[in-house]
Amino acid sequence: MGTTAARTLRTTLPARAYTDPAWFEREMEAVFARMWLAAGRDGELQAPGAFVRRDVAGASVLIVRADDRAPSAATALGWDNRAPSAAAALAWNGSLLAFHNVCRHRGTRLCIEEHGRFQGRIQCPYHAWTYGLDGRLLAAPQMDEVADFDRADYPLRPVACESWDGHIFINLSPLDRLGATLSTVEGSDAPDPLSSQIGDLRARFAPWRMDELRMVRRIEYDIATNWKLVVQNYNECLHCPVIHPLLNRMHHYLAAENVPTTETYCGGAMGFKQGVETLSADGKRRRAVLPGLGERERAVVNYFAIYPNFLLTLHPDYMMTITIWPVDPGHTRLVAEWHFHPDEIAKPDFIFEDAIEFWDRTNREDWAISEQSYLGISSRGYQPGPYSEREKQLWEFDQFVLSRVEGLGT
Ligand code: FES
Ligand SMILES: [Fe+2]
Repeated sequence: MGTTAARTLRTTLPARAYTDPAWFEREMEAVFARMWLAAGRDGELQAPGAFVRRDVAGASVLIVRADDRAPSAATALGWDNRAPSAAAALAWNGSLLAFHNVCRHRGTRLCIEEHGRFQGRIQCPYHAWTYGLDGRLLAAPQMDEVADFDRADYPLRPVACESWDGHIFINLSPLDRLGATLSTVEGSDAPDPLSSQIGDLRARFAPWRMDELRMVRRIEYDIATNWKLVVQNYNECLHCPVIHPLLNRMHHYLAAENVPTTETYCGGAMGFKQGVETLSADGKRRRAVLPGLGERERAVVNYFAIYPNFLLTLHPDYMMTITIWPVDPGHTRLVAEWHFHPDEIAKPDFIFEDAIEFWDRTNREDWAISEQSYLGISSRGYQPGPYSEREKQLWEFDQFVLSRVEGLGT
């Protein structure tokens, strides 16, 4: 009987899926270099020339607010002869553009700052090749006498970029051939639009009007664990009574009402315990409820892991986002941000520290246990262990990663 039961158990992944550098490289190729990655908020990129840099999966990407007065970047890059259905997959997102942070001359990294503002152009620090904010090569010293050299052939290489209610996403799938005809687009490795990955979440979260919210605080955490253990930790609350004494006073740990898991996200809502209004140190809410929320939405916190790198937590009065940036098999950078409604931010007595303190403490509890998990999994004593019925979402996430990695072939 024991043997039969063992055969039907769903178990955790083998150690190498967490610790092996070759496996990690395959994950970066199969998952992070092909799916849409959450990369920040467009509120941070309001001014022409404002940029952020994101390093992931062997790429460094600049996301830039092009100057609206510049000629259309889509036209400059030769992307304007496409049908509307293909448009969503392009690096053209209003005036928000993304490029590989790599000079077209001899490949030098263009920009070492993580964020900032370009003054109308992007200049390589090596030999001063100079690009417009739309990626066009404007100047290439000493190249004029070179036969067959045409500046138009060397724009910065585009990266697909789309937004969803203020959340910027990038996709590293190759876009180089998109300048040609639509038939080329369809036959290329160009990504499916972001909507194919977020599915019905656009409609589900419309009442939160996330596009209106503004970031007030960011905390970055560098932790010694595998990125998948962060996602798995977020996807279950069985650990809440043990790990999170404070959070456990706010929710009942078995109260999650999850939506059916999809290929690309999982999540659900958790109601509050009696007398709790939001997640803060004492459960009291010190800000107005977000203006679009109905009775049902103000009574819960929504927790959604949008694969592979976005943890979206929606409260009645604020939003917390966490983006996940794998560094190597045993190290992960996490960027947590807290976003509030501008009407609240404008009030002289606006308070937000309660939300940050609550979550910074709770997040650190999660990061600490995720580091311990990694230590155990990477030791000689580890063998895959059985999931409970309430950990089905974790097993499904494992299968999602496995199928993508195995789908790469050898
Ligand atoms: S490598 Fe950039 S200008 Fe030479
Ligand atoms: Fe947790």
